Amino acid sequence: MIQSLKHTDPQIFSLIKAEAKRQKNVLEMIASENYTSHAVMEALGSVLTNKYSEGFPGKRYYQGNSIADEVEMLAQERAKHLFGVPYVNVQPLSGAPANSAVYFAVLKNGEKMMGLSLAMGGHITHGHKLGLSGRLFTSVHYELGKDALLDYDAIEKQVMQEKPQLLICGYTAYPREIDFKRFGEIADKAGCYLMADVSHITGLIVAGVHPSPVPYAHIVTTTTHKTLRGPRGAMILVTEKGLQKDPELPKKLETAIIPGLQGGPHDNQTAAIAVSLKEAATASFKKYGKQIVANAQALAAELQKQGFELVSGGTDNHLILLDLRNKKVNGRVAAIALEAAGIVLNYNGVPGDEMPPLFASGIRLGTPAITTRGLKEKDMKKIAEWYRLAVKEVEGMDLPSDDKVKRSTLFKEYKAAMLKNKKLPAIAKEVKAFCKKFPIE
Ligand SMILES: Cc1ncc(COP(=O)(O)O)c(C=O)c1O
Repeated sequence: MIQSLKHTDPQIFSLIKAEAKRQKNVLEMIASENYTSHAVMEALGSVLTNKYSEGFPGKRYYQGNSIADEVEMLAQERAKHLFGVPYVNVQPLSGAPANSAVYFAVLKNGEKMMGLSLAMGGHITHGHKLGLSGRLFTSVHYELGKDALLDYDAIEKQVMQEKPQLLICGYTAYPREIDFKRFGEIADKAGCYLMADVSHITGLIVAGVHPSPVPYAHIVTTTTHKTLRGPRGAMILVTEKGLQKDPELPKKLETAIIPGLQGGPHDNQTAAIAVSLKEAATASFKKYGKQIVANAQALAAELQKQGFELVSGGTDNHLILLDLRNKKVNGRVAAIALEAAGIVLNYNGVPGDEMPPLFASGIRLGTPAITTRGLKEKDMKKIAEWYRLAVKEVEGMDLPSDDKVKRSTLFKEYKAAMLKNKKLPAIAKEVKAFCKKFPIE
């Protein structure tokens, strides 16, 4: 007899139910989150989770893999077609291992990589000293230029001085378009590899609302769970240009995955990635990608009208970075207040931030998940108004950068004050009523 989850583990069952309810009743505005389809979740929750298939299609270390082979090859083919690349690896368990696999494949221990600093919007796996990449390899970082934009001339100059073996572009908190062509020219001039980590913007690239790095980079990495709207997971793409530079790249990447980093792939996850790639190849996904950007730009304009300061002055993609220093509100305090008001996002460092990462001065927000729910430009006015009202409740709640003890005392006081605040839950009630009009699948 099949025992349902409800019977086997009522505690987990009710926690999942509660999480579903939470996701339904709030505005999910974490720039890296989305709502996957039921089809994706069905594949993720399938019997494929029972299988071990270490190795790659046609060369596994376990028997019984003819179906797993078909699943993986289907995912590979769909990705190759969608991105126009000759080789795809769908086995990285997530974005961080995908990036590590690339480093293991193209760098020897101690060789040099160069990416944007974490403080300016790069990712921790792009050579930060506390991560694996920063510990095993030599890492130098470039910074943003004035107006918080990429300064390609300065990057080129630094690359020519530093001579890294690997140049990385693609970011976690950069709201502007990336000039992949220019990055390709810089890498070619220096004779190094170019890796584009497009985790955040893959869905936009597929939809044609952000240029693709494929003609210019040697390797592209991406998570599958952000704008692409698939399950958690990642892919590594090798471009024609990458194959020309090193025809052995696919083999090196496979060796980096296993035995380098991982054991068996998660076949259920691979199947779910395949499903999301099929969904991403449709005309309606293209429309979705366009709407993500249209919503982000409409929201950016409305937030500016409400007196918010946008890093770089706006957005070209799915995310907005607000510098809250002009409001005299700490970013973490604002994120807590907004959650109490039914709007979920993350606090985030801003260029030139004097605060430590745990008390960063800004917030990062994005439109991928609310766009999946069906929100349009006209709805952004209302959302911006809720931001204004919620942040007004905590205006003046900033924190010192140089006094740890005072910071901790004040933060506790602010949290207690927010718990007693009556206006924030009142906004959350309005948000919940609004969300009802936009049901999730
Ligand atoms: C640019 C970028 N690369 C890599 C990752 C890591 O992905 P994961 O959390 O799946 O390891 C992220 C996650 O936020 C990201 O933004």
